[in-house]
Amino acid sequence: MSDPKDESSKPAGMRKGLVNYGDAGFSLFLRKAFIKGAGYTDAALDRPVIGITDTGSGYNPCHGNMPQLLEAVQRGIMLAGGLPVKFPTISIGESFAQPTSMYLRNLMSMDTEEMLLAQPMDAVVLIGGCDKTVPAQLMGAASAGLPAIQLITGSMLTGSHRGEVVGACTDCRRYWGRFRAEEIDAQEIAAVNNQLVPSVGTCSVMGTASTMACIAEALGMTVPGGATPPAVTADRMRVAEATGAAAVQMAKQRLAIDKILTEKAFENAMRVLLAIGGSTNAIVHLTAIAGRMGFEVDLKALDRMGNETPVLVDLKPSGAHYMEHFHAAGGMATLLRELKPLLHLDALTVTGRTLGEELEDAPAAFAQDVVKTRANPIYPQGGIAVLQGNLAPGGAIIKQSAAAPKLMEHEGRAVVFTGLEDLANRIDSDDLDVTADDILVLQNIGPKGAPGMPEAGYIPIPRKLGRQGVKDIVRISDGRMSGTAFGTIVLHVTPESAIGGPLAYVRDGDRIRLSVSRRELQLLVTDEELARRAKESPQTPPAAPRGYRKLFLETVTQADQGVDFDFLREPRVKGRVPKA
Ligand code: FES
Ligand code: MG
Repeated sequence: MSDPKDESSKPAGMRKGLVNYGDAGFSLFLRKAFIKGAGYTDAALDRPVIGITDTGSGYNPCHGNMPQLLEAVQRGIMLAGGLPVKFPTISIGESFAQPTSMYLRNLMSMDTEEMLLAQPMDAVVLIGGCDKTVPAQLMGAASAGLPAIQLITGSMLTGSHRGEVVGACTDCRRYWGRFRAEEIDAQEIAAVNNQLVPSVGTCSVMGTASTMACIAEALGMTVPGGATPPAVTADRMRVAEATGAAAVQMAKQRLAIDKILTEKAFENAMRVLLAIGGSTNAIVHLTAIAGRMGFEVDLKALDRMGNETPVLVDLKPSGAHYMEHFHAAGGMATLLRELKPLLHLDALTVTGRTLGEELEDAPAAFAQDVVKTRANPIYPQGGIAVLQGNLAPGGAIIKQSAAAPKLMEHEGRAVVFTGLEDLANRIDSDDLDVTADDILVLQNIGPKGAPGMPEAGYIPIPRKLGRQGVKDIVRISDGRMSGTAFGTIVLHVTPESAIGGPLAYVRDGDRIRLSVSRRELQLLVTDEELARRAKESPQTPPAAPRGYRKLFLETVTQADQGVDFDFLREPRVKGRVPKA
């Protein structure tokens, strides 16, 4: 990683690596001549240059308000005396990214890092929203080391179906489940399809996008109140304008990202992740972002932090409401105020002031019912628990706040699927030997397995069980699940099956014991038997002959390292987070 202090202490256009056409004076002369082709005056070019990542794309309706956001950010920059310069980077829209958006997250982070370093800018506004974009931008910016500020695109509005409030995409799953169980017909499911995504913006529940928005604010990477305004609102545009103005101040103060992304900031973010009942994906993303700053995530310490962090935000899929309601309830200020005794209030934010100082000046509290008090939480512990055992020597996680209480202490018979194709072929078969007490096991959907660790960990309820009214069943995989999903679902089993983790050697009929209270995930098969199976059918890790897939398969790390590429992580380890 380049030394951010060295780099950011020089004016844009003069940084290391840029001065390469003859002498420094000529280099600047040449660059000015070319940018003047766009019609700039010297006065404009004398201002702090603020880069803005334009991540609009026709394939990404979650960023569909990009033109308005860009206009508002540019206005904020100019009002504060800077020169805005927008430039494109990769955009990843969750629903169209094949084989999975996670496969592309590191590519976007590399694009972001390199374009931040390649082009002269004194600070950068990162505009992201859809699930993988904010993590990718924070990873890239962390490695680039410049002053950087995050602007969230904002959530979509909620829709309405036959009098019921609906939103993407917890309700997508719920209605599809009802359709599969033959509770609703083809006409009704088609009607629902029009209502689930009623505007541009990110998913309206506490899925990965909303979770990462809250985490970005908790990290101190957005202006206060930057997480929750919906995409199409005036509040969102005011946040965009304020973000542009803040970026100019950051440039003037040389407020580089390493002053913001500290141990304390990561601990605040983890606290918030637990308290919002946030997406399990955020653990992987936070691990990757922290890894870019030289911090390793201690999953056991995170689990201990969960014991003293109740879920307070009543949003789907763990609760009842949607992002627009969280915003109306005062947004993150309401939550952070409630969490105050558990936070590092001295952590610095992009405004140059601490989280505590910003909270003092936040709008006054008022009565609302979306953010609960610590005395009366949605769920007494953090949303996510970390499991360990012979089936997951490197750990696994479960979103306990979205799981069925009666299944959290459960022993059952394994019904094994060897991959996505096997699952698709057999899950709805009437011949599938399965009961509601069994445990569905899905192999080969880890970081290398699928590849890209797809969100296929939300294994559908077998149709024959769905028809009997079964709503939940224990499911285990090395994949991820959408932050908008719910159920008793064990994810991120590490090491993954494709590289020979114990999950690869589970067979139909094996007994598995899940105990969330003891944080245990045990395969009740002897070590000798597992070794025998491993010898009998060894795993060959997947490989590719060329291109990005080759790079991906050769360098991607496991979930406990954030599924980042090994060569992108900061090699100097500074410590472990959280310290709890
Ligand atoms: Fe983009 Fe959900 S699909 S946030
Ligand atoms: Mg998602």
